[in-house]
Amino acid sequence: MNRTKILVTGGAGYIGSHAVVELYEAGYQPIIVDNFVNSQESALNGIRTILGTDIPCYKIDCANEAAVRGVLEQEKDIKGIIHFAAYKAVGESVAEPLKYYQNNLGSLLVLLALMPEFGIQSIVFSSSCTVYGVPDQLPVTEQTPTKPATSPYGNTKKICEDILNDVTAAGKGQLRTILLRYFNPIGAHASGLIGELPLGVPNNLIPFVTQTAAGIREKLTIFGDTYDTPDGTNIRDYIHVVDLAKAHVVAVERLLAGGHADVEVFNVGTGRGNSVLEVVNAFEKATGQKLNYVIGPPRAGDVPAIYADVTKATQELGFQTTTSLEDSLASAWKWQQTL
Ligand code: UD1
Repeated sequence: MNRTKILVTGGAGYIGSHAVVELYEAGYQPIIVDNFVNSQESALNGIRTILGTDIPCYKIDCANEAAVRGVLEQEKDIKGIIHFAAYKAVGESVAEPLKYYQNNLGSLLVLLALMPEFGIQSIVFSSSCTVYGVPDQLPVTEQTPTKPATSPYGNTKKICEDILNDVTAAGKGQLRTILLRYFNPIGAHASGLIGELPLGVPNNLIPFVTQTAAGIREKLTIFGDTYDTPDGTNIRDYIHVVDLAKAHVVAVERLLAGGHADVEVFNVGTGRGNSVLEVVNAFEKATGQKLNYVIGPPRAGDVPAIYADVTKATQELGFQTTTSLEDSLASAWKWQQTL
């Protein structure tokens, strides 16, 4: 089988590793680059066991132009890039903004500088619903105005979108770009062989929930219950990571088929909003685990409610999620038990 090569930056990370599996299963040849600062080599073992084959992986920093050039020279005929590699901790980005700007902008700039030289015309970029800030209307569509970022992390996503818009426009059809605005990815591969590997105390809700159920954390603190939402807790759109990974496969297919002259933007969520308390209840129901939790003060910078309108991805990419919130949470729990 002659597989089209796709460079996957951050391919050993949480979303990246699931996308590598889906790409390979769809007939592509993923080529991973990852510096393993926020991922572990065990993800490669999981990928190998799921696919029954090794996926090439280069341990390099994506912001290092010479190193990325070396990979592109060695692999020669890469046809597209999915760019996941980035730092993603909101709080850390406030404390260490320069680290975020250098890494998140630097890696994209390196890729964009090298793409023409190697005849690579297609890029899918990992953006985030964070670009909508606190939206005036729900659900958010791709036309919902973006808002100034509330953290350096969020700002890197916004600036990277701007860079891609400018470079794509100047490229006169030589660069084809899809921005995927992720909502909240959760869960793990059904095999239980790959999943999220948070280092230290998790920032994100679901790893904190599963670690609490596993007895690693004493209790979950729900960050506020007096928001203007039906039960007072924040609302998010939790999408199963394999569903999210599949969106990358359809995005790549669209770009390789000729894509679109302009940058295309797609929300990738389920279209459902669930509150933190609903997540806790769904977790208990799906797993039979009782969760120890308390209500704490709100977390600075949290958006009260956001969820996606996914009409555009459904109509234009044929994208549909298939995993329920409970099944997503059950998969996260299955994964936690392997750690
Ligand atoms: C944030 C970012 C998002 C980024 C993601 C990656 C914003 C607005 N969102 O998502 O862009 O991609 O992190 O890390 O910048 N919660 C608790 N207790 C906890 C942990 C979380 O109650 O211990 C609540 C939060 O208040 C929130 C929900 O759970 O309402 C989800 O939180 P989290 O998983 O951290 O994701 P976001 O903040 O939505």
